[in-house]
Amino acid sequence: MHINGWRLVVCRLAGIIDAFRFNLLSVGPMILPEIHEFLGCRTPDGWIQAALADQETLLIDHKNCEFKAASTALSLIAKYHSHVDLINMMSRLAREELVHHEQVMRLMKRRKIELRQLSAGRYASGLRKVVRSHEPVKLVDTLVVGAFIEARSCERFEALVPHLDEELGKFYFGLLKSEARHFQGYLKLAYQYGDAKDIAQVIDRVRAAEQELIETPDVEFRFHSGIPAAA
Ligand SMILES: [Fe+2]
Ligand SMILES: [Fe+2]
Repeated sequence: MHINGWRLVVCRLAGIIDAFRFNLLSVGPMILPEIHEFLGCRTPDGWIQAALADQETLLIDHKNCEFKAASTALSLIAKYHSHVDLINMMSRLAREELVHHEQVMRLMKRRKIELRQLSAGRYASGLRKVVRSHEPVKLVDTLVVGAFIEARSCERFEALVPHLDEELGKFYFGLLKSEARHFQGYLKLAYQYGDAKDIAQVIDRVRAAEQELIETPDVEFRFHSGIPAAA
């Protein structure tokens, strides 16, 4: 076998060992394959390398993402004040995201990572562009966008876990299970408040936009950024 062939075999074996080490195969019945299928692409290797090389920025932006996830959930409660199931889910989600926010803050403190201002990346604003501006479809689009953000977060944690130190690896493995649940919750609400045929088209539209944000060069490294642009 050619040397590259052996290298591939060794990489695959290492991936399988990591999957067992972190029990990645037991995240939930079939949930990781479902998430891979839902997303238009996997995280490019260039992003993983950039994240490993700048874990400080990764953690600061991750902390900001947890806060934004909670604040989005709260603003949905304020806006859709007669949607009981949405309010119940978003209330639980906001609490959970704030707990994640506190957990990242604690981890940063242990690692002596100072808080600093980070500008928001292009990802969330890029996805918001595909949300229709009138109700009731605005809510459906917003929920589908939420499902994609949670699915991508889950997929990124999964991609990072095998490469991280034990503490961060365990933490991110725990989080990927939460994000998988949040993905399912957002999608369930979209189907509850929308029309299945329309949602299929919304998913296609958001999937294409999301894939582009992930697979095109991005000048800023963030938790949800694209391929790091060459300096
Ligand atoms: Fe979270
Ligand atoms: Fe989440």
